[in-house]
Amino acid sequence: MTEHPGFATRAIHAGQAPDPTTGAVIPPIVASSTFAQDGVGGLRHGYEYSRSGNPTRTALEECLAALEGGTRGFAFASGLAAEDTLIRSIAKPGSHIVLPHDAYGGSFRLFDRAYAPWGLRTDPVDLTDLAAVEAAIQPGETLAVWVETPTNPLMSVADISAIADLAHSLGALAIVDNTFASPYLQQPLELGADVVVHSTTKYCGGHSDVVGGAVVVADPELAEKVQFHQNALGAVAGPFDAWLVLRGLKTLAVRMERHSDNAEAVADFLLGHRAVSDVFYPGLDDHPQHDVAKRQMRRYGGMVSFGVGAGEQAAVDLCGRTEVFTLAESLGGVESLIEHPGRMTHASVAGTALEVPGDLVRLSVGLEDAEDLLADLDQALR
Ligand SMILES: Cc1ncc(COP(=O)(O)O)c(C=O)c1O
Repeated sequence: MTEHPGFATRAIHAGQAPDPTTGAVIPPIVASSTFAQDGVGGLRHGYEYSRSGNPTRTALEECLAALEGGTRGFAFASGLAAEDTLIRSIAKPGSHIVLPHDAYGGSFRLFDRAYAPWGLRTDPVDLTDLAAVEAAIQPGETLAVWVETPTNPLMSVADISAIADLAHSLGALAIVDNTFASPYLQQPLELGADVVVHSTTKYCGGHSDVVGGAVVVADPELAEKVQFHQNALGAVAGPFDAWLVLRGLKTLAVRMERHSDNAEAVADFLLGHRAVSDVFYPGLDDHPQHDVAKRQMRRYGGMVSFGVGAGEQAAVDLCGRTEVFTLAESLGGVESLIEHPGRMTHASVAGTALEVPGDLVRLSVGLEDAEDLLADLDQALR
Protein backbone atom coordinates (compact mmCIF):
# COMPACT_ATOMS: atom_id res chain seq x y z
CA MET A 1 0.00 0.00 0.00
CA THR A 2 1.11 3.61 -0.56
CA GLU A 3 2.37 5.55 2.45
CA HIS A 4 -0.81 7.62 2.82
CA PRO A 5 -3.61 5.59 1.25
CA GLY A 6 -6.86 7.42 0.55
CA PHE A 7 -10.15 6.78 2.31
CA ALA A 8 -11.58 4.24 -0.13
CA THR A 9 -8.29 2.32 -0.25
CA ARG A 10 -8.20 2.11 3.55
CA ALA A 11 -11.86 1.04 3.64
CA ILE A 12 -11.13 -1.86 1.31
CA HIS A 13 -7.71 -2.92 2.64
CA ALA A 14 -7.01 -1.75 6.22
CA GLY A 15 -6.97 -4.75 8.56
CA GLN A 16 -7.84 -7.01 5.64
CA ALA A 17 -4.67 -8.51 4.17
CA PRO A 18 -5.35 -11.83 2.39
CA ASP A 19 -5.67 -14.71 4.86
CA PRO A 20 -2.13 -16.09 5.44
CA THR A 21 -3.32 -19.72 5.55
CA THR A 22 -5.57 -19.92 2.49
CA GLY A 23 -4.99 -16.69 0.59
CA ALA A 24 -8.70 -15.82 0.97
CA VAL A 25 -9.04 -12.24 -0.21
CA ILE A 26 -11.91 -11.58 2.18
CA PRO A 27 -11.29 -11.99 5.93
CA PRO A 28 -12.91 -15.23 7.10
CA ILE A 29 -15.70 -15.28 9.67
CA VAL A 30 -13.86 -16.94 12.55
CA ALA A 31 -16.81 -18.55 14.32
CA SER A 32 -14.82 -19.97 17.19
CA SER A 33 -15.36 -19.02 20.81
CA THR A 34 -11.94 -20.31 21.85
CA PHE A 35 -8.43 -20.85 20.41
CA ALA A 36 -6.00 -23.76 20.86
CA GLN A 37 -2.87 -23.00 22.89
CA ASP A 38 0.58 -24.53 22.29
CA GLY A 39 1.23 -25.31 25.95
CA VAL A 40 -0.36 -23.25 28.75
CA GLY A 41 -0.33 -19.59 27.70
CA GLY A 42 1.11 -20.44 24.26
CA LEU A 43 -1.21 -18.32 22.18
CA ARG A 44 -0.69 -18.68 18.41
CA HIS A 45 -1.68 -15.20 17.26
CA GLY A 46 -2.62 -13.55 20.56
CA TYR A 47 -6.13 -15.04 20.57
CA GLU A 48 -7.46 -17.07 23.48
CA TYR A 49 -11.21 -16.43 23.83
CA SER A 50 -13.51 -14.51 21.47
CA ARG A 51 -14.85 -12.05 24.05
CA SER A 52 -11.28 -10.83 24.57
CA GLY A 53 -10.36 -10.91 20.89
CA ASN A 54 -11.51 -12.49 17.64
CA PRO A 55 -9.70 -12.25 14.27
CA THR A 56 -12.79 -11.09 12.32
CA ARG A 57 -13.46 -8.43 14.93
CA THR A 58 -9.80 -7.38 14.84
CA ALA A 59 -10.06 -6.85 11.06
CA LEU A 60 -13.05 -4.57 11.59
CA GLU A 61 -11.44 -2.74 14.52
CA GLU A 62 -8.27 -2.05 12.52
CA CYS A 63 -10.30 -0.82 9.57
CA LEU A 64 -12.42 1.49 11.78
CA ALA A 65 -9.29 2.96 13.40
CA ALA A 66 -7.76 3.55 9.95
CA LEU A 67 -10.91 5.25 8.65
CA GLU A 68 -11.31 7.56 11.65
CA GLY A 69 -7.58 8.24 11.95
CA GLY A 70 -7.44 6.88 15.52
CA THR A 71 -4.89 4.75 17.33
CA ARG A 72 -7.38 1.97 18.19
CA GLY A 73 -10.89 0.94 17.22
CA PHE A 74 -13.28 -1.27 19.17
CA ALA A 75 -16.37 -3.03 17.86
CA PHE A 76 -19.49 -3.68 19.94
CA ALA A 77 -22.85 -5.42 19.79
CA SER A 78 -24.71 -2.12 19.20
CA GLY A 79 -24.16 1.61 19.17
CA LEU A 80 -25.54 1.88 22.70
CA ALA A 81 -23.24 -0.93 23.88
CA ALA A 82 -20.32 1.08 22.45
CA GLU A 83 -21.47 4.23 24.27
CA ASP A 84 -22.01 2.31 27.51
CA THR A 85 -18.58 0.72 27.42
CA LEU A 86 -16.92 4.06 26.66
CA ILE A 87 -18.72 5.87 29.49
CA ARG A 88 -17.98 3.11 31.99
CA SER A 89 -14.33 3.24 30.91
CA ILE A 90 -14.00 6.93 31.81
CA ALA A 91 -16.75 7.96 34.26
CA LYS A 92 -17.33 7.40 37.93
CA PRO A 93 -20.20 8.34 40.26
CA GLY A 94 -20.43 12.13 40.37
CA SER A 95 -18.91 12.65 36.90
CA HIS A 96 -20.55 15.38 34.88
CA ILE A 97 -21.20 15.22 31.13
CA VAL A 98 -22.55 17.94 28.84
CA LEU A 99 -25.04 16.51 26.34
CA PRO A 100 -26.58 17.95 23.18
CA HIS A 101 -30.13 19.11 23.94
CA ASP A 102 -31.26 17.27 20.81
CA ALA A 103 -29.19 14.08 21.24
CA TYR A 104 -30.43 10.77 19.84
CA GLY A 105 -33.19 9.65 22.21
CA GLY A 106 -31.54 6.34 23.06
CA SER A 107 -28.30 8.07 24.07
CA PHE A 108 -30.26 10.52 26.20
CA ARG A 109 -32.17 7.64 27.82
CA LEU A 110 -28.88 5.89 28.62
CA PHE A 111 -27.61 8.96 30.46
CA ASP A 112 -30.90 10.09 31.96
CA ARG A 113 -32.42 6.77 33.01
CA ALA A 114 -29.61 4.21 33.24
CA TYR A 115 -26.70 6.33 34.56
CA ALA A 116 -28.46 8.97 36.66
CA PRO A 117 -29.29 6.43 39.42
CA TRP A 118 -25.54 5.61 39.52
CA GLY A 119 -24.70 9.25 40.20
CA LEU A 120 -23.68 10.45 36.74
CA ARG A 121 -24.74 14.05 36.21
CA THR A 122 -25.67 15.51 32.83
CA ASP A 123 -26.73 18.87 31.43
CA PRO A 124 -28.43 19.03 28.03
CA VAL A 125 -27.39 22.20 26.15
CA ASP A 126 -27.71 23.64 22.68
CA LEU A 127 -24.31 22.74 21.21
CA THR A 128 -24.72 25.32 18.45
CA ASP A 129 -24.44 27.98 21.18
CA LEU A 130 -20.77 27.99 22.26
CA ALA A 131 -21.43 30.38 25.15
CA ALA A 132 -24.01 27.90 26.49
CA VAL A 133 -21.51 25.04 26.15
CA GLU A 134 -18.88 27.05 28.01
CA ALA A 135 -21.36 27.91 30.76
CA ALA A 136 -22.38 24.26 31.13
CA ILE A 137 -18.82 22.95 31.53
CA GLN A 138 -17.89 22.79 35.21
CA PRO A 139 -14.07 23.04 35.26
CA GLY A 140 -12.54 20.15 37.18
CA GLU A 141 -15.91 18.35 37.30
CA THR A 142 -17.01 17.97 33.71
CA LEU A 143 -15.59 14.81 32.23
CA ALA A 144 -16.70 15.30 28.65
CA VAL A 145 -18.79 17.16 26.15
CA TRP A 146 -20.85 14.67 24.15
CA VAL A 147 -21.23 15.96 20.61
CA GLU A 148 -23.66 14.58 18.08
CA THR A 149 -23.47 16.21 14.68
CA PRO A 150 -25.57 16.34 12.59
CA THR A 151 -28.19 15.53 15.21
CA ASN A 152 -30.98 13.01 15.01
CA PRO A 153 -33.62 14.09 13.90
CA LEU A 154 -33.32 17.90 13.72
CA MET A 155 -30.03 17.93 11.78
CA SER A 156 -28.40 20.69 13.81
CA VAL A 157 -24.65 20.95 13.34
CA ALA A 158 -22.13 21.51 16.14
CA ASP A 159 -18.70 23.02 15.51
CA ILE A 160 -16.44 20.10 16.46
CA SER A 161 -13.11 21.94 16.57
CA ALA A 162 -14.50 24.89 18.55
CA ILE A 163 -16.14 22.56 21.09
CA ALA A 164 -13.03 20.36 21.34
CA ASP A 165 -10.87 23.45 22.01
CA LEU A 166 -13.33 24.70 24.62
CA ALA A 167 -13.60 21.30 26.30
CA HIS A 168 -9.83 20.87 26.39
CA SER A 169 -9.24 24.35 27.80
CA LEU A 170 -11.58 23.46 30.67
CA GLY A 171 -10.16 19.98 31.29
CA ALA A 172 -12.87 17.94 29.56
CA LEU A 173 -12.84 15.43 26.70
CA ALA A 174 -14.71 15.88 23.43
CA ILE A 175 -16.61 12.77 22.32
CA VAL A 176 -18.33 12.79 18.92
CA ASP A 177 -21.16 10.53 17.81
CA ASN A 178 -20.27 10.36 14.10
CA THR A 179 -23.14 8.04 13.13
CA PHE A 180 -25.03 10.43 10.81
CA ALA A 181 -21.99 11.69 8.90
CA SER A 182 -19.90 8.49 8.83
CA PRO A 183 -16.09 8.71 8.72
CA TYR A 184 -16.26 9.41 4.98
CA LEU A 185 -18.04 12.75 5.42
CA GLN A 186 -16.57 13.88 8.73
CA GLN A 187 -13.32 13.23 10.60
CA PRO A 188 -13.84 14.31 14.25
CA LEU A 189 -10.41 13.19 15.51
CA GLU A 190 -8.68 15.31 12.88
CA LEU A 191 -10.87 18.22 14.05
CA GLY A 192 -9.53 17.79 17.60
CA ALA A 193 -12.02 15.39 19.24
CA ASP A 194 -10.69 12.67 21.55
CA VAL A 195 -13.14 9.86 20.85
CA VAL A 196 -15.57 8.90 18.11
CA VAL A 197 -18.55 6.62 18.63
CA HIS A 198 -20.76 5.02 16.00
CA SER A 199 -23.88 3.08 15.61
CA THR A 200 -22.38 0.92 12.84
CA THR A 201 -25.95 -0.33 12.35
CA LYS A 202 -26.33 2.74 10.15
CA TYR A 203 -24.02 3.98 7.35
CA CYS A 204 -20.97 1.90 8.29
CA GLY A 205 -22.94 -1.35 7.90
CA GLY A 206 -25.07 0.33 5.26
CA HIS A 207 -27.46 -2.52 4.37
CA SER A 208 -29.89 -2.68 7.34
CA ASP A 209 -28.77 -6.23 8.06
CA VAL A 210 -26.75 -5.83 11.25
CA VAL A 211 -26.82 -4.04 14.63
CA GLY A 212 -23.40 -2.89 15.82
CA GLY A 213 -21.39 -0.12 17.42
CA ALA A 214 -17.87 1.25 17.53
CA VAL A 215 -15.53 3.39 19.57
CA VAL A 216 -12.35 4.88 18.06
CA VAL A 217 -9.90 6.73 20.28
CA ALA A 218 -6.91 8.95 19.64
CA ASP A 219 -5.02 8.47 22.91
CA PRO A 220 -3.29 5.09 23.52
CA GLU A 221 -3.83 5.35 27.30
CA LEU A 222 -7.56 5.80 26.81
CA ALA A 223 -7.46 2.91 24.34
CA GLU A 224 -6.10 0.66 27.11
CA LYS A 225 -9.02 1.58 29.36
CA VAL A 226 -11.58 0.91 26.63
CA GLN A 227 -9.93 -2.39 25.77
CA PHE A 228 -10.07 -3.46 29.41
CA HIS A 229 -13.75 -2.54 29.68
CA GLN A 230 -14.64 -4.08 26.31
CA ASN A 231 -13.46 -7.41 27.67
CA ALA A 232 -14.70 -6.83 31.24
CA LEU A 233 -18.22 -5.80 30.18
CA GLY A 234 -18.37 -8.16 27.21
CA ALA A 235 -20.77 -6.36 24.86
CA VAL A 236 -18.61 -7.25 21.84
CA ALA A 237 -19.55 -7.60 18.17
CA GLY A 238 -19.87 -11.26 17.18
CA PRO A 239 -17.76 -12.45 14.23
CA PHE A 240 -20.60 -12.57 11.69
CA ASP A 241 -21.81 -9.10 12.67
CA ALA A 242 -18.23 -7.77 12.52
CA TRP A 243 -17.88 -9.28 9.04
CA LEU A 244 -21.08 -7.63 7.80
CA VAL A 245 -19.94 -4.20 9.01
CA LEU A 246 -16.51 -4.75 7.45
CA ARG A 247 -18.15 -5.64 4.14
CA GLY A 248 -20.32 -2.53 4.40
CA LEU A 249 -17.32 -0.28 4.99
CA LYS A 250 -15.75 -1.31 1.68
CA THR A 251 -18.42 0.65 -0.24
CA LEU A 252 -18.91 3.48 2.28
CA ALA A 253 -17.28 6.15 0.10
CA VAL A 254 -19.40 5.45 -2.99
CA ARG A 255 -22.55 4.98 -0.93
CA MET A 256 -22.13 8.30 0.92
CA GLU A 257 -21.66 10.14 -2.38
CA ARG A 258 -24.91 8.71 -3.76
CA HIS A 259 -26.77 9.22 -0.43
CA SER A 260 -25.68 12.85 -0.58
CA ASP A 261 -26.72 13.26 -4.25
CA ASN A 262 -30.17 11.84 -3.54
CA ALA A 263 -30.69 13.71 -0.26
CA GLU A 264 -29.75 17.01 -1.93
CA ALA A 265 -32.36 16.34 -4.61
CA VAL A 266 -34.97 15.43 -1.96
CA ALA A 267 -34.19 18.50 0.17
CA ASP A 268 -34.52 20.78 -2.87
CA PHE A 269 -37.80 19.14 -3.84
CA LEU A 270 -39.24 19.49 -0.32
CA LEU A 271 -38.12 23.10 -0.08
CA GLY A 272 -40.31 23.98 -3.03
CA HIS A 273 -43.37 22.01 -1.87
CA ARG A 274 -46.31 23.95 -0.46
CA ALA A 275 -47.35 21.17 1.99
CA VAL A 276 -43.92 21.34 3.68
CA SER A 277 -43.27 23.94 6.39
CA ASP A 278 -39.55 23.47 7.18
CA VAL A 279 -36.73 21.42 5.69
CA PHE A 280 -33.81 20.40 7.91
CA TYR A 281 -30.72 19.54 5.85
CA PRO A 282 -27.22 20.92 6.56
CA GLY A 283 -26.50 21.20 2.84
CA LEU A 284 -29.13 23.91 2.34
CA ASP A 285 -27.74 27.44 2.17
CA ASP A 286 -30.28 28.66 4.71
CA HIS A 287 -29.55 25.90 7.29
CA PRO A 288 -28.53 27.88 10.40
CA GLN A 289 -25.17 26.08 10.67
CA HIS A 290 -24.53 25.58 6.95
CA ASP A 291 -21.14 27.34 7.15
CA VAL A 292 -19.94 25.08 9.98
CA ALA A 293 -21.18 22.02 8.08
CA LYS A 294 -19.38 23.19 4.96
CA ARG A 295 -16.13 23.54 6.89
CA GLN A 296 -16.19 20.21 8.65
CA MET A 297 -18.09 17.87 6.31
CA ARG A 298 -17.09 16.63 2.87
CA ARG A 299 -20.76 16.55 1.84
CA TYR A 300 -24.02 16.53 3.83
CA GLY A 301 -25.18 12.91 3.89
CA GLY A 302 -28.48 11.11 3.43
CA MET A 303 -30.66 12.31 6.31
CA VAL A 304 -33.38 14.90 5.72
CA SER A 305 -36.15 15.93 8.13
CA PHE A 306 -39.11 18.16 7.38
CA GLY A 307 -42.20 19.65 8.96
CA VAL A 308 -45.63 18.99 7.50
CA GLY A 309 -47.58 22.26 7.43
CA ALA A 310 -50.93 20.63 8.22
CA GLY A 311 -49.67 19.32 11.59
CA GLU A 312 -49.03 16.12 13.51
CA GLN A 313 -51.82 13.91 12.16
CA ALA A 314 -50.96 14.88 8.58
CA ALA A 315 -47.31 13.96 9.27
CA VAL A 316 -48.35 10.57 10.70
CA ASP A 317 -50.67 9.91 7.74
CA LEU A 318 -47.97 10.87 5.25
CA CYS A 319 -45.61 8.26 6.71
CA GLY A 320 -48.20 5.57 5.87
CA ARG A 321 -48.62 6.66 2.24
CA THR A 322 -45.15 6.30 0.69
CA GLU A 323 -44.34 3.28 -1.46
CA VAL A 324 -40.62 3.52 -2.24
CA PHE A 325 -39.79 4.93 1.20
CA THR A 326 -40.50 2.11 3.68
CA LEU A 327 -42.08 3.10 6.99
CA ALA A 328 -39.49 1.90 9.49
CA GLU A 329 -37.09 3.04 12.21
CA SER A 330 -33.32 3.14 11.72
CA LEU A 331 -31.37 4.74 8.87
CA GLY A 332 -28.26 4.56 6.73
CA GLY A 333 -29.19 1.56 4.57
CA VAL A 334 -29.32 1.37 0.78
CA GLU A 335 -33.14 1.52 0.91
CA SER A 336 -35.02 4.73 1.68
CA LEU A 337 -36.93 4.87 4.97
CA ILE A 338 -39.52 7.26 6.37
CA GLU A 339 -40.58 7.66 9.98
CA HIS A 340 -42.40 9.88 12.47
CA PRO A 341 -39.77 10.61 15.18
CA GLY A 342 -42.30 11.85 17.74
CA ARG A 343 -44.15 8.53 17.79
CA MET A 344 -41.31 6.19 16.77
CA THR A 345 -37.54 6.70 17.30
CA HIS A 346 -37.95 9.59 19.74
CA ALA A 347 -41.06 8.47 21.62
CA SER A 348 -38.81 7.75 24.63
CA VAL A 349 -38.00 11.48 25.02
CA ALA A 350 -41.60 12.70 24.95
CA GLY A 351 -42.16 15.06 27.88
CA THR A 352 -38.42 15.82 28.28
CA ALA A 353 -36.29 18.72 27.04
CA LEU A 354 -35.55 16.57 23.98
CA GLU A 355 -39.15 16.18 22.79
CA VAL A 356 -39.32 16.60 18.99
CA PRO A 357 -42.02 18.53 17.08
CA GLY A 358 -45.15 16.46 16.33
CA ASP A 359 -45.29 17.57 12.69
CA LEU A 360 -41.76 16.31 11.97
CA VAL A 361 -41.03 13.54 9.45
CA ARG A 362 -37.55 12.03 9.08
CA LEU A 363 -36.21 10.49 5.88
CA SER A 364 -33.22 8.23 5.46
CA VAL A 365 -32.65 8.80 1.76
CA GLY A 366 -31.32 5.64 0.16
CA LEU A 367 -29.64 4.78 -3.11
CA GLU A 368 -32.67 4.30 -5.38
CA ASP A 369 -33.15 6.47 -8.49
CA ALA A 370 -33.74 10.04 -7.37
CA GLU A 371 -36.73 10.48 -9.74
CA ASP A 372 -38.52 7.56 -8.06
CA LEU A 373 -37.91 9.03 -4.62
CA LEU A 374 -39.24 12.44 -5.64
CA ALA A 375 -42.28 10.93 -7.35
CA ASP A 376 -43.05 8.88 -4.24
CA LEU A 377 -42.84 11.89 -1.93
CA ASP A 378 -44.92 13.91 -4.38
CA GLN A 379 -47.77 11.40 -4.42
CA ALA A 380 -47.64 10.98 -0.63
CA LEU A 381 -47.70 14.75 -0.02
CA ARG A 382 -50.66 15.14 -2.37
C1 LIG B 1 -26.95 9.01 16.33
C2 LIG B 1 -27.14 7.66 16.95
N1 LIG B 1 -26.29 7.25 17.91
C3 LIG B 1 -26.42 6.04 18.50
C4 LIG B 1 -27.45 5.19 18.16
C5 LIG B 1 -27.59 3.87 18.88
O1 LIG B 1 -27.17 2.83 18.07
P1 LIG B 1 -27.75 1.33 18.13
O2 LIG B 1 -29.20 1.40 17.73
O3 LIG B 1 -26.90 0.59 17.15
O4 LIG B 1 -27.60 0.85 19.52
C6 LIG B 1 -28.35 5.57 17.16
C7 LIG B 1 -29.47 4.68 16.78
O5 LIG B 1 -30.38 5.08 16.08
C8 LIG B 1 -28.19 6.84 16.55
O6 LIG B 1 -29.03 7.28 15.59
